[in-house]
Amino acid sequence: MGTQKRVAVIVGSLRKGSFTRMVAKTLADLEHPELRLEIKEIGNLPLYNQDSDEKPPTPWVSFRQQIKAADAVIFATPEYNRSVPGVLKNAIDVASRPYGQNAWDGKPGAVISVSPGALGGFGANHHLRQSLVFLNVPVLQQPEAYISKAAELFHEGKLVDDKARSFFVNYIKAFSAWINQCQPTKLQS
Ligand code: FNR
Repeated sequence: MGTQKRVAVIVGSLRKGSFTRMVAKTLADLEHPELRLEIKEIGNLPLYNQDSDEKPPTPWVSFRQQIKAADAVIFATPEYNRSVPGVLKNAIDVASRPYGQNAWDGKPGAVISVSPGALGGFGANHHLRQSLVFLNVPVLQQPEAYISKAAELFHEGKLVDDKARSFFVNYIKAFSAWINQCQPTKLQS
């Protein structure tokens, strides 16, 4: 559908059986006529090195283009040591550069943290928000998404928890409204 907004979904886990990816896929598969969610892979991005911006590796160039082409972005992240996994921070850094060409600039965003534990990745969620302030990503405030006890929500990769499903449906509705509400506020052109 031509009118659908393109939402890049970034998953902060490379693990095959990742609960975070299950959450991201669940969101992408929900019916939401106004949005098209697509997971953008980050596992092949070489570690960011500022020297390489003179001759950027192809996966960086491609990832930066994919983010620039998106209308909005959802970050689905596990929590590693009360923060964001390095692989996700690397992707954020890659697309934030070279200086003056921040691909995230002005894109409406949302943060969902996922954990098999009880705290739902609160630490990762809020560390991520700190970077997003600097990157000029206006982040959905409510509802907050701390997905706890994630292992209990899925069976063979499929969501089996009705309460979680209705939360995700409402979450995407709120994000869609947030995207429409956000005014273009790019710092860079
Ligand atoms: C973890 N895990 C974890 N969980 C948590 O709730 N808070 C934390 O701070 C951490 N720290 C942490 C560090 C490292 C290095 C690993 C490998 C794991 C456990 C983590 O939530 C669990 O492995 C999840 O299954 C990871 O998410 P995915 O891969 O299932 O999406």
